[in-house]
Amino acid sequence: MTGAERTETLEDEASLQLDGNGNLRHMLTLKGLERKLLVEILDDAEQFLTPAGAMPARSQALAGRTVANLFFEPSTRTRASFDLAGKRLGADVLNLDVNTSSRKKGESILDTIYTLEAMQVDVMVVRDASAGVPAYIARHVLDHVSILNAGESDVSHPTQGLLDVLTIRQHKGSFENLAVAIVGDIRHSRVAMSASQALATLGVGELRLISPPVLAPEPESVPGARIVDNLQEGLADADVVMALRIQRERIGNLDGIPGIDEYFANFGISHESMKQAKPDAIVMHPGPMNRGIEIEGSLADGPNSVITEQVMNGVAVRMAVLDRVTRTMAAR
Ligand code: CP
Repeated sequence: MTGAERTETLEDEASLQLDGNGNLRHMLTLKGLERKLLVEILDDAEQFLTPAGAMPARSQALAGRTVANLFFEPSTRTRASFDLAGKRLGADVLNLDVNTSSRKKGESILDTIYTLEAMQVDVMVVRDASAGVPAYIARHVLDHVSILNAGESDVSHPTQGLLDVLTIRQHKGSFENLAVAIVGDIRHSRVAMSASQALATLGVGELRLISPPVLAPEPESVPGARIVDNLQEGLADADVVMALRIQRERIGNLDGIPGIDEYFANFGISHESMKQAKPDAIVMHPGPMNRGIEIEGSLADGPNSVITEQVMNGVAVRMAVLDRVTRTMAAR
């Protein structure tokens, strides 16, 4: 992306994602998304959940629509759940294999997008390592096409933020009296950014972002959050503890980043460190996990862990978002 194109993406993404009637047209960021809309999406997602072992929820709400998954970075959970979400709503789903696509031959991202538009794709789900790409695409697509951000550099991962707050709501009810601790590489984490934005909108009691100083966020990027560099202090009486992996792929110079043993000793979420949190604190992780580095394996598999519930909620949230943006399309 050129400098001029990047400047273009700095315009207000929050308003870009709504149509003239305030309906969700694209899902680009949780920043600025009003509480009512956020809660409606969570409530919709609940409707798409069935008990483990039961048949998954299905509908034909997207019959005749086409969803394309364009993942220009690796993914397991997000890509698979968007794929399942589209199919369970009756859409045709195209998973573009980026490694064998014509972008490898020098095709620009917009030419790829225009090609898919010509094939009557309605929704494009985009993951990219560069900041601003989902909004840039959203500014260039036809009026009836929706863009969903499936992970944007270290900036934003809105459907992950939604599934995280849905999981917290299921276990803890309201947010006002909760202390939520997010631990790890906050500085390079789009998951932390989107979760922080959603939690702030939902009125969380206290948000603590815990990391070694080298992995701490810029304070202005997380208004209202408490930035903490001591794990014991940050976990004290926490209701929710979310571990994050170190995003090595986004760290140019690894100098100053603690080694594995030092990191786990000082910032690892373990049975020992969880003694600081409330006994009923839930343990979360967006995945992919590095067991023994940011989280103790047996804790991730233990009774307080809600990690597999996060994955299950991921499909439901993506169904809710796909359903909503296509309803906006139909209303146009
Ligand atoms: N949480 C998350 O985004 O996982 P994937 O990279 O596997 O999609």
